[in-house]
Amino acid sequence: MRKCILVMLLSFLVSNIFANENIYERNCVNCHKKLDIGIDKFFYKYLMVFSSEIAVKISIKDYLMHPMREKSLMVDDDILEKYEIKEPSSISEVELEEAIDIYWEKYKVFGKLK
Ligand code: HEC
Repeated sequence: MRKCILVMLLSFLVSNIFANENIYERNCVNCHKKLDIGIDKFFYKYLMVFSSEIAVKISIKDYLMHPMREKSLMVDDDILEKYEIKEPSSISEVELEEAIDIYWEKYKVFGKLK
């Protein structure tokens, strides 16, 4: 009985943790953290090159769906020497858009301050 309660409590906690993580954290941040590659500087690079919200979002989405060296903004960076070009995104297009919206919301303020 006690064991049963413990298991229930644990699964409640675990599901709560996952529910609190949004698609951006679950997908983007998780992988970038695991590989120990920052995600913030990529954002500023896209913001610098594309500047408008629509253009930034479209080009990030396009890159993540079809990553290739020719499209990467990081070619001058040693990041592409250290890591291979990433795999195409595995989440649905809708989830990808949602994640990029959160990514934008998170960093746009800091980008404007620079
Ligand atoms: C499976 C791991 C993984 C996931 C998931 C992932 N990334 Fe990345 N991301 C990488 C790696 C590795 C690179 C560096 C290599 C490259 O640029 O292709 C990268 C590069 C990038 C870049 C720079 C692209 C360029 O011009 O080279 C951006 C922006 C980015 N990620 C944002 C995101 C966002 C936003 C998400 C979530 C929607 C995401 N990433 C999900 C691994 C991941």
